Amino acid sequence: MAVKWTSLQIAVLVISISAFTLAIDLDVDSPDSIRTAAATIAYGLQSMYNGNRTGGEPGKFPDPPYYWWLSGAAWGGMLDYYLYTGDESYYNVTYDALVSQISPTNNYLPAAEALDEGNDDIALWAFAAQNAAEYGFREPPKAYPTWLKICDNIFNDFVSRWIASSNTCGGGLKWQVFPTSPGYDYKNSISNGGFLQLAARLYRSTNNQTYYEWAIHVWDWSVKIGLIDSSYNVFDGSDDTINCTGIDHTLWTYNVAVYLYGTAVLYNYTNGLEIWRNRTTALLDFALEAFVSPFPNATDVIYEHCELTWSCNIDQFSFRAYLARWLAKTTIMMPETAEKVNPVLRASALAAAAACSGGANGTTCGARWYLDAWDETSGLGQALAALEVVQSLLVDEAGPPAEAST
Ligand SMILES: *[C@@H]1O[C@H](CO)[C@@H](O)[C@H](O)[C@H]1NC(C)=O
Ligand SMILES: *[C@@H]1O[C@H](CO)[C@@H](O)[C@H](O)[C@H]1NC(C)=O
Ligand SMILES: *[C@@H]1O[C@H](CO)[C@@H](O)[C@H](O)[C@H]1NC(C)=O
Ligand SMILES: *[C@@H]1O[C@H](CO)[C@@H](O)[C@H](O)[C@H]1NC(C)=O
Ligand SMILES: *[C@@H]1O[C@H](CO)[C@@H](O)[C@H](O)[C@H]1NC(C)=O
Ligand SMILES: *[C@@H]1O[C@H](CO)[C@@H](O)[C@H](O)[C@H]1NC(C)=O
Ligand SMILES: *[C@@H]1O[C@H](CO)[C@@H](O)[C@H](O)[C@H]1NC(C)=O
Ligand SMILES: *[C@@H]1O[C@H](CO)[C@@H](O)[C@H](O)[C@H]1NC(C)=O
Repeated sequence: MAVKWTSLQIAVLVISISAFTLAIDLDVDSPDSIRTAAATIAYGLQSMYNGNRTGGEPGKFPDPPYYWWLSGAAWGGMLDYYLYTGDESYYNVTYDALVSQISPTNNYLPAAEALDEGNDDIALWAFAAQNAAEYGFREPPKAYPTWLKICDNIFNDFVSRWIASSNTCGGGLKWQVFPTSPGYDYKNSISNGGFLQLAARLYRSTNNQTYYEWAIHVWDWSVKIGLIDSSYNVFDGSDDTINCTGIDHTLWTYNVAVYLYGTAVLYNYTNGLEIWRNRTTALLDFALEAFVSPFPNATDVIYEHCELTWSCNIDQFSFRAYLARWLAKTTIMMPETAEKVNPVLRASALAAAAACSGGANGTTCGARWYLDAWDETSGLGQALAALEVVQSLLVDEAGPPAEAST
């Protein structure tokens, strides 16, 4: 539902933006200003972490409590913070956190999380580990395999879980890992899109065709079931109990985002294959149509639908982090998308900076970027989403991820 603009509305908006004093100062044309804004948000985010202090749990952000996956997502964002800004302040705390959750089977399956561990949760930790592999982050200590090998282990877990449940829905990855978890029957976009993106990135890192074949397989299944429809709308999930004959049509930013970056990587590594260009372009168009410009006074600003009804939970506050993250990375894999993506990231970063104006120091991040003011909410998801959209303006600084020669 993109809002169409008249030039009068744009003129009014330009005047109102320039008259507004930002709480976190941000000049989107100045790399130094972007770095300073990102540093302020990163500092606020890290002050929620106590896992490197007595009484804290390594790797995990504590109260309210946050789910395990959100910590993995946050460390992935912190790794990008280092790559994009060059600020090494959190390199070691990020490294220690990523190592702390690898688990004895070297696949991010810690026993402590067995009650509610989802394939999507693991995927978010895997993306951080894969990022570490792609950019030569320090390898884990000797007792563990490399970041790349850990990601390959997770890929093979996904393959065997897919096969184990292929008596329903013609395949697909379940949401949950363990039969005891609520949602075990659900087969959803974030898990399957996570599988596709991980496969795509492993393919790029190794040139091993097995990963490519699975990426194609996951795409084809997602379309067949209707998680992705013929107009490239990406919906939330379907269910084993109905053999995936019906779809939960709820729209979330991170579902399209996770597929989008996967197809962009495949486009790039296949040297621009038309089928991946078409898919990437269509997913991008859907994302920009569905999750940008909620109101005439917030053109190009990313939003989550639940913000409008004040019904987002603490997980959902973070989802725009991954849309911003993967929109930005898509412009690296498919440079021609920058023209569409950059105005959205710039407007959203400005709006997010304005929303980071709460608390005693006036830099606590709220959720609703379209308000140009703090919405009196705060938390890890809000801080992460703001951090990622602001730092995404520096995505070019990291350069493309390493790739195997073809
Ligand atoms: C702002 O205040 C919050 C809450 O007191 C604190 O956690 C955070 O670290 C502060 N941020 C900065 C940049 O000082
Ligand atoms: C924990 O990490 C933070 C950076 O996020 C650092 O400022 C702090 O000094 C560390 N604390 C300890 C006890 O190492
Ligand atoms: C980070 O850890 C490395 C290896 O242990 C150490 O050499 C380095 O001094 C640490 N850096 C900081 C800023 O603590
Ligand atoms: C379940 O769905 C799959 C995939 O659409 C299909 O191939 C299979 O025939 C269906 N099974 C039943 C029992 O309808
Ligand atoms: C490619 O990756 C798959 C999945 O891990 C593995 O089974 C296979 O041995 C790999 N092939 C080569 C040539 O390394
Ligand atoms: C793949 O990515 C690289 C690095 O950004 C870029 O130079 C190249 O043009 C991309 N390939 C295609 C086919 O767009
Ligand atoms: C890509 O899209 C164009 C334009 O819609 C279409 O003509 C072409 O057949 C598509 N290519 C593939 C491989 O699907
Ligand atoms: C934009 O419009 C929405 C909906 O009317 C409103 O809630 C919001 O406060 C407005 N934002 C600004 C910056 O005025």
